[in-house]
Amino acid sequence: MNIFFVTCAKGLEQVLAEELKSLGITNLRIDVGGISFKGTFEDCYKANLWLRTANRILLIVDKFFAYDDTELYEKIRKINWQKHITNDSFFCVDVNLKDSKMTHSQFVARRIKDAIVDQFREKTGNRPSIDTFSPDLRINVRIFRDEVTLSFDSSGDSLHKRGYRTETGKASLKETLAAGLVLLSNWDKKTDFYDFTCGSGTILIEAAHIALNVAPGIFRQKFGFETWNDFDPKIWQKLKDEAKKLKKSSLPYKFYGSDVNSKNLSNAHVNAKNAKVLEFVELTRKDAREFTPKKNEGVIVSNLPYGERTYEVDELKETYKKIGDTLKQNCKGLSAYLLTEQGILTKSIGLKVTKRHVLFNGDLECRLLEILLY
Ligand SMILES: C[S@@+](CC[C@H](N)C(=O)[O-])C[C@H]1O[C@@H](n2cnc3c(N)ncnc32)[C@H](O)[C@@H]1O
Repeated sequence: MNIFFVTCAKGLEQVLAEELKSLGITNLRIDVGGISFKGTFEDCYKANLWLRTANRILLIVDKFFAYDDTELYEKIRKINWQKHITNDSFFCVDVNLKDSKMTHSQFVARRIKDAIVDQFREKTGNRPSIDTFSPDLRINVRIFRDEVTLSFDSSGDSLHKRGYRTETGKASLKETLAAGLVLLSNWDKKTDFYDFTCGSGTILIEAAHIALNVAPGIFRQKFGFETWNDFDPKIWQKLKDEAKKLKKSSLPYKFYGSDVNSKNLSNAHVNAKNAKVLEFVELTRKDAREFTPKKNEGVIVSNLPYGERTYEVDELKETYKKIGDTLKQNCKGLSAYLLTEQGILTKSIGLKVTKRHVLFNGDLECRLLEILLY
């Protein structure tokens, strides 16, 4: 058994826990921004293929205290690196430092690389190379209050990079957060799904993948674990074949997206095509202030526009108020989940909010507001 740590956006830990349980991975320890679990390599491959809200799945290799770079260098050098990489391998080191005696993450990363390379030079007379773009092994080092957690990143690139989104707008949501919004909504997967500020279509596509039971990792070209020494391609192929069989091919409802910006809508079209859900998606150029659903049932999940400057915020207050009026007048029978920046804009909607979920969109603290229009 190995110990893995799955990272996610702050606020999505419970959703991630439910996802892990549904994969049969139990015995979880929930932390802020992630969850650890004990499991096999098959669990790790499965989690990379199926988790919708996870950013990275890290295999914890070692934990120790180090109070300066010399101590860190010595402890890293003691690990038998030839078990994990060879002279021909490419590797890189990501460092995350917080509340510790060591303060310069780049310098720390260099010392770790030196320790690994020096061990190889001493034992073999040769050394592996550095590649930050597509390494065979991505080493993740977290130093918190002088405790070093050394992990191997089984995901490689962050899992939000599903592989279908070639077009993005200025304020596109990460796919992992978009999936989290859908999973936090009370959508019954039996009725129409709407996003009236759909931008490049991320929420609609993630919702369609959830409804069709598409494994979110199926479009990716590469995962970190595929270049690990002990990678088992047979198990990986079996998991991918099973996932393909589990995909549904039809649905009795649609995913309706609208936006005022035509360029964003054409991005959404391309992305939905890449994600193989275009036949289930209908995109229209329309102002959210005039939104009308097709029926008096369904769910709206939207990431409303944010404003950075004062004049933008003033304009948005008016837009939010009008969206609130439209929801009240046109959307009886639906429920709405609106992601907004925390603060004054929330109040402008003018409707009763039944739940507020705190979520982080990068560093930006947001609220997902639940508004039931029954
Ligand atoms: C935060 S972005 C949404 C990003 C989207 N979730 C994605 O992943 O690409 C807000 C979107 O609202 C759109 N928008 C702004 N005002 C609007 C309005 N009055 N009606 C409809 N869409 C609007 C913008 O064009 C932008 O695409």
